[in-house]
Amino acid sequence: MSTFDIEEVRNHIKESSSFVRNLLDNTRTEHPDFDFPEILIICGSGLGGIASRISPDSYSLVQNYSGIPHFKVSTVPGHAGKFVFGKMNSTSVVLMEGRLHSYEGYAIQDTVFPLRVLHELGSINTVIVTNAAGGLNRTFKACDLMCINDHINFPGLAGLHPLKGPNFEEYGPRFLPLSDAYDLELRKLLFRKMKELNLQRTLHEGVYAFASGPTFESRAESRMLHMIGADAVGMSTVPEVIIARHCGWRVLALSLITNVSVLDPPASALDDNPVPLDKGMASHSEVLENGKIASLDVERLIEAVVGEL
Ligand code: 6GU
Repeated sequence: MSTFDIEEVRNHIKESSSFVRNLLDNTRTEHPDFDFPEILIICGSGLGGIASRISPDSYSLVQNYSGIPHFKVSTVPGHAGKFVFGKMNSTSVVLMEGRLHSYEGYAIQDTVFPLRVLHELGSINTVIVTNAAGGLNRTFKACDLMCINDHINFPGLAGLHPLKGPNFEEYGPRFLPLSDAYDLELRKLLFRKMKELNLQRTLHEGVYAFASGPTFESRAESRMLHMIGADAVGMSTVPEVIIARHCGWRVLALSLITNVSVLDPPASALDDNPVPLDKGMASHSEVLENGKIASLDVERLIEAVVGEL
């Protein structure tokens, strides 16, 4: 038995996509400067402010996921749950403010449904994915940025994979190569823009590990991920990148390091002077707070990159 009924999913994608297409067609009739998006930008936790970079000089459109047929709604604080269509730096974009995560209880194939729907519009060729992540690399500090150049799909290696089940042959191959998923030219562009904008923040390049969450990693888990080559860890992005590559889109992915993961072992019961128990413990409020501090730079950086695409 397959994991889902591919014909049913195809129909859902077509129905959702028709809804969005009608919306955009109608908007374009009324506002000639409005156009179908060429770039998709997915906003990570606390990074919804990217929407403020949508140009106020041309028409923009907000569509809540809850109003689109077959769409599921994000339940996470910091994830609004809407598309914003508009112009950024003269290019037509769509923002996903709010994404679905498998830890919310959705099938991992369902978390990437919005990307399939947007692909069906036929106008997008590039996706910029952002996220909040924990830093595993010891040179990373909270509020640093990391351009993702590769990933470790931990749940995927064990069978929790967005392409599991019947393959959508009309999108991409059964056996999708991912050895160069993160576009080199786009990564170079990101570093160039970082320099040009003279942002006083460190932009690293590295490997993002996808962990399904919703718990933050234990110390031993963080050490393991660090040992196998991950520089940052988070609960999103990789499923979306995989679907984007399956759709043939170019991918740029950026992590905001909201906290540094604890790699030291816990206090030992055999130690008379143990380290305090909560030292460095990750929390969602810390993720959102540090997100606020660095998010302005992320917004400026993405706006600058979009202007070159
Ligand atoms: Cl430390 N872990 C995970 N899995 N996701 C995060 C994080 C840590 N910090 C922000 N997002």
